[in-house]
Formats: sequence, C-alpha cells, structure tokens
Amino acid sequence: MAVAASATHEHWSSRAAFIFAAVGSAVGLGNIWKFPYEAGQGGGGAFVLIYLVFVFGIGVPVMIAELSLGRRGQMSPPNSVKKVAIDEGRSPAWQAIGWFGVIGAFLVLSFYSVIAGFALSYMTNTFLGNLSVLDGQASASHFGALTGNFWLVLFWHALFISLTIFVVARGVTKGLEKAVTWLMPALFCLLVFLVVYSLIFGAGAEAVRFLFEPDFSKVTGRVVLEALGQAFFSLSLALGTMLIYGCYLPRDISIPRSALVVASADTGVALLAGLAIFPIVFAYGLEAGQGPGLVFVTLPIAFAQMPGGVIIGGMFFLLLSIAALTSSISLLEPMVSWLEEHKAVDRLKSAILGGGLVFMVGLGSVLSFNHWSDITLFGRTFLGNLDFLTNNIIMPVGGFLIVVFVGWRVSRASMRDELHTISDRQFNIWRAMARYVCPLALLAIFYSVLS
Ligand code: PHE
Repeated sequence: MAVAASATHEHWSSRAAFIFAAVGSAVGLGNIWKFPYEAGQGGGGAFVLIYLVFVFGIGVPVMIAELSLGRRGQMSPPNSVKKVAIDEGRSPAWQAIGWFGVIGAFLVLSFYSVIAGFALSYMTNTFLGNLSVLDGQASASHFGALTGNFWLVLFWHALFISLTIFVVARGVTKGLEKAVTWLMPALFCLLVFLVVYSLIFGAGAEAVRFLFEPDFSKVTGRVVLEALGQAFFSLSLALGTMLIYGCYLPRDISIPRSALVVASADTGVALLAGLAIFPIVFAYGLEAGQGPGLVFVTLPIAFAQMPGGVIIGGMFFLLLSIAALTSSISLLEPMVSWLEEHKAVDRLKSAILGGGLVFMVGLGSVLSFNHWSDITLFGRTFLGNLDFLTNNIIMPVGGFLIVVFVGWRVSRASMRDELHTISDRQFNIWRAMARYVCPLALLAIFYSVLS
C-alpha cells in the first residue's frame, strides 16, 4: 500500500487521556443544543427512555466495533479498514466505510462550525451585557440579526474553525489530549454549577417530571427514528472519529469498558443539560417544545430576566463553546490523519489544508442563513441538505456497514483478540448484537427514510 512513512501514528498517553478525548468528542452541540430540544419536542420522558435504549442497545455495540476496527488497522479510517479487510481475506472495497467517515465528518464539521460560531457569538454578547434586556420579541430578532448578517456569521465560523485547526495542528498528545484534559473538567464544573443553580432557582420539580415521566402520546415513528439518529450523532459514531481514536488506543486498554464509560458520560451530560435548561424554561413560562431555537432564542430571555443572568448566561454559552470545540477537533482528525499518510505533509499543513477546505464548504451553510435562505433543493437549504445527507444517509449507512463488516466479515478469532479483556459470555452477547440486532435496527431507519 502506498502510504508515506508518516503513517505510524501517536498513541494516547493513558487510558484517562483517551476517555477524556472520547467523552470530549461525544459531548458537544448534540448534548447541550440538540438533545434538550429534541426531548422537548418528543414528549420529554418518553423520548429520553427510547433514547437510552438506543444508546446502550445499539450505540455501545457499534462503538465497540468501530474502536476495535481502528485499533486493528492502526491507520487513518480508510487505510485501517482496508488493512483489516485484506488481512481477513476480504475485498479492499470495504474501505468505503472509512471514506464514509472521512467525508461525513468533513461535511458535518462544515456546518457544526457555523452553529458553534453562534455559541461563541452568544457567549461574547452575553458576557458583554448586550443581551441583558431581551423579551421574547427582542430575543428572536437578535438571533435573526446575527444569522441574517453574512459577514458576522462568517466571522464566528472562521474564528471557530481556526481554534479547531490550532488544536489539531499540535498533534495527538500535545494538542488533542492537552486541550481535553483542561476543557473537560472545566465543562463538567460549569455544567454542575448550572444544574444546581437551575434546580434551586428554577422550576426543578417540573423539569424532573418533564424529563423522566414518559408521555407516550407524543411518540411517533419519526420520534423513534430521531432518537436513533440522535444516539448515533451524540456518541460520535460512524463518522470516522471512533475509528481514528481507536487507532491511537494502546492495546492493553479495554475497549468494551471504555465504550461503556464514554456512553454513560455522554448520556449523563445530555440529561444534566436538560436539568440545567428546563427548570429555567418552565420557571419563566417559556415553550419547551419549540425546537432548534431553544438555547439561542428561548434561554437568553430567561438569562435577561434572572439576577446574575449575565454571568450565568455567559457561562452557559462558554460551556456550549467548549463542548463544541472538543467535538470539532474529533471531526477534523479523520481527514487530517489521512492527509498525513497520503500527502506526506506534516500535521500543521494537513490541519490547515483540511480545516481550510471545511471553512470553504462551510460558506454554503453560512449563506443558508441569509443570502441563500430562499434557495432550496428538495425543499431544503444547503445546510438542510447537508444535515439530511449526513444524519439520514451517511451515518446510518456507515453504521450499518461497520456492524456488517465487523460482525460478518472479520473473523470471530480476530475480534476476540481485540476484545480480550471481557469474558466469553460478554463477548458472545456483543457479537450477537453486532451481527443481528444492530443491522436490523439500522435497516429500519433506511426503510423509514425511503418510505
Ligand atoms: N458527538 C458530537 C456532539 O454530540 C458530534 C460528533 C459527531 C462529533 C460525530 C464527532 C463525530 O455534538
């Protein structure tokens, strides 16, 4: 295989470093921005219950498969899968799995960075006190004024992607690891503080009831599929991230145990984010089920009214920005690792090249909020189409191919060797999930997308 000498990648320096990085990847806009509004729209507790079943029933087995594949291949996602396929006597075409990852992550990052830019903008404006006099109408028009201004959205997108490039360019241990070991504890402290504040000063009991008492009347087929898509997105699955983070994983670290820790932490943060947001939403009589504007339009109204809202609100958007950054680095990494192997360029150049391309494609998403907001294809804007393509096609097809490949095309012995720390019984349970339960559940998504 024509791979440059730089193909030998760094490894995480400890299990803790890997856990921080993987949790950092998993915890992001998906947990703090998306999960609460999807739960809000999907009937609260009922959505949460279905989501939990998907995270642990499907997400964890897929994560185990993906990390194992990456560690076995020891290269960037496409080359790792190709190497494993050849070693197992299978067609090298299976490397498509890796390509789905690299390209999918690239596309997701191009709009993820734009939304993360909103978080940076809100953080700055809240701390500066610019948002301290909002009512419902003013809040909606502030959001409209930001998104409607092409140059402003572009500026924050450029700033966010530059931060991402900066961290990735410094490498696995000096960049990724160092960033997450500082940022994840900060994120956790901020989150706990906000939850305690909300539960004490907000409508805590109502929020707890909303999040944990299932109301199945709002659950439709769509809501179930949304929960499955959200589980994949939130756990950073099928976009090459877990392949490349697995590649950096030393052999003595238990993959199943790590996957369980990562999934539990990710779910914990999503629930805590709900417990930080909904008590405030209910205390101020705001709408829980109003969709994507929940954190950008609804919450600032509450922050403007509460005492100390400048600090609390600013901290909330700081939290959102940190969570987004530790995810965005993991979205750039699959592509950068591939560029490093193939173009024999160093990390700095790979990161600038990869990040620069992401920035350019992101222009389409920037424009979707303003000059191109009326230009649609299949009834969706540019950003809407990218979101649809990645969430409804690339991620489920990628996830399906991963479990089929690992479950049916990689030998039992190879997988047993990779998952050497668990008992035979645990291994058999995982294998049955990967071979039968996961592929069938994913087929159900396709069916719904196509029908
Ligand atoms: N899991 C991240 C979030 O919840 C998004 C992400 C998806 C990151 C896939 C990497 C890979 O925001």
